[in-house]
Amino acid sequence: MSLRVALAVVVLAFAGGWCPCLADVGDFAPCLHVFYKSWPPKGLAGTPICQRYDNQYHFATLYSRPRRSPWFSAYLYSVPAGKRPSASWKFEPQLAYPGADGNMIPFPPGPLDQNVVESQAVELDYINSTYSRGHLNPSLHHHTHEDRSATFTLTNVVPQKAGSNDGPWEVLEQTVNKTLSAYCLGEAYIVTGIIPYLNDERWLKNHRVAVPEYMWSAYCCPNYNNSLPEKLKDFFPTYAAIGRNDCNSTEEIVPVNKTAKKQFRGFDVRPMPLETLEMYLKDRFNTVVSVFYEQCSGSEANTHRLKQ
Ligand SMILES: *[C@@H]1O[C@H](CO)[C@@H](O)[C@H](O)[C@H]1NC(C)=O
Ligand SMILES: *[C@@H]1O[C@H](CO)[C@@H](O)[C@H](O)[C@H]1NC(C)=O
Ligand SMILES: *[C@@H]1O[C@H](CO)[C@@H](O)[C@H](O)[C@H]1NC(C)=O
Ligand SMILES: *[C@@H]1O[C@H](CO)[C@@H](O)[C@H](O)[C@H]1NC(C)=O
Ligand SMILES: *[C@@H]1O[C@H](CO)[C@@H](O)[C@H](O)[C@H]1NC(C)=O
Repeated sequence: MSLRVALAVVVLAFAGGWCPCLADVGDFAPCLHVFYKSWPPKGLAGTPICQRYDNQYHFATLYSRPRRSPWFSAYLYSVPAGKRPSASWKFEPQLAYPGADGNMIPFPPGPLDQNVVESQAVELDYINSTYSRGHLNPSLHHHTHEDRSATFTLTNVVPQKAGSNDGPWEVLEQTVNKTLSAYCLGEAYIVTGIIPYLNDERWLKNHRVAVPEYMWSAYCCPNYNNSLPEKLKDFFPTYAAIGRNDCNSTEEIVPVNKTAKKQFRGFDVRPMPLETLEMYLKDRFNTVVSVFYEQCSGSEANTHRLKQ
C-alpha cells in the first residue's frame, strides 16, 4: 500500500460519519483520536472545541474565551491534494449558545447575533487590521476538501503578521509537509499553538482579540522510515519549531537573520527539539506544558504494559 493510499484509508476510517452528537464545546472526548495516544496536551487551560464540520469531527482546538483566539489546534496530517479552498469563514455557535448545533457555520452576510460577537472573534476584528488570519491548523496539511474547508474557522486562527504568514511560517508548513509525506509511515499528530506576550498583551486593533508574540508547532510521528537521510536524523519521531510574530521581539528565543528579505525580516522560525520547545513554554506559561504523551516516545510495548 502506498503512503498516499494508507493515509486515505485512515482518513476514510475517521470520516465514517460517526457522530455521537455530544456537545462539541467543553470536552475533547468526541475527538480524542486527533491526539497521540488520545492524550491532549497538558498544562494549558481553556475551552476545548471538537471542530465539527458537515457532521464530522476534523480537528481539536483549545480556545481562550478571554483572548477570543486559540491556544492551540491539534490535528492529524494527511498528504495534501487539490487547491486551497476559497475561504468561507466560519464561527462556532456553541461558544455563544451551549445548546446550539455542534457544527461550525459560515458567517451570515447580514448583521451578527450579539452573543456570537461577544463570545468569539468575528470577521470585522480582522478587517482593516495590520494582521492577517493565521491558521494554526493549515489547510495545506490535509487531503480531503472537507478537512481543508474545516480549517477556515476563526476559532482556529490568530492574528499573524503577513511577514510570518507568507514567509518563514509558510516555509515551515511546507517543510513539515515534505518531511512527513516522505518519511512518516503511520499517523502524524501535529499540535500548533501560540506564545503570548510576557507583559502588556497586544490586541487586534487595540480591541478584542489577543495577538501572540510567537507561534509554535510540533509533530509526533511514532512510525517512520528508519532509513532517513543524514540531515533528517534528528527530525523523527518528533520535532518542533517556534516562529516570531513580532519583528521587534528580543532575540533570546528566536534570533533574527539580518540578511533575510526585508518583508520577512524579523519573522524567523527556529527549528528545535521538542524538549527545547517545552522549556520555552514552561518559561512563558510558568507551568509545565507537555505537548505529547511521554514526549512522543511511548512505544507499542509501553502501551501494552500500561494496559495490563
Ligand atoms: C476599511 O478601510 C476602508 C478604507 O479606509 C474603508 O472604506 C472601510 O469602510 C473599512 N472597513 C471597515 C469594516 O472598517
Ligand atoms: C506537500 O507534499 C506533497 C507530497 O510530497 C507534494 O506533492 C506537495 O507539492 C507538497 N505541497 C506543498 C505546498 O509543499
Ligand atoms: C524508506 O526510505 C528509503 C530511502 O529513501 C526508501 O528506499 C524506502 O522505499 C522507504 N521505505 C518505505 C517503507 O517507505
Ligand atoms: C516595530 O518597531 C517599529 C519602530 O519602532 C514600529 O514602526 C513597528 O510598528 C513595530 N512593529 C510591531 C509589530 O510592533
Ligand atoms: C539568512 O537569509 C538569507 C537570505 O534569505 C539566506 O540566504 C541565509 O541562508 C540565511 N541565513 C541563515 C543563518 O539562516
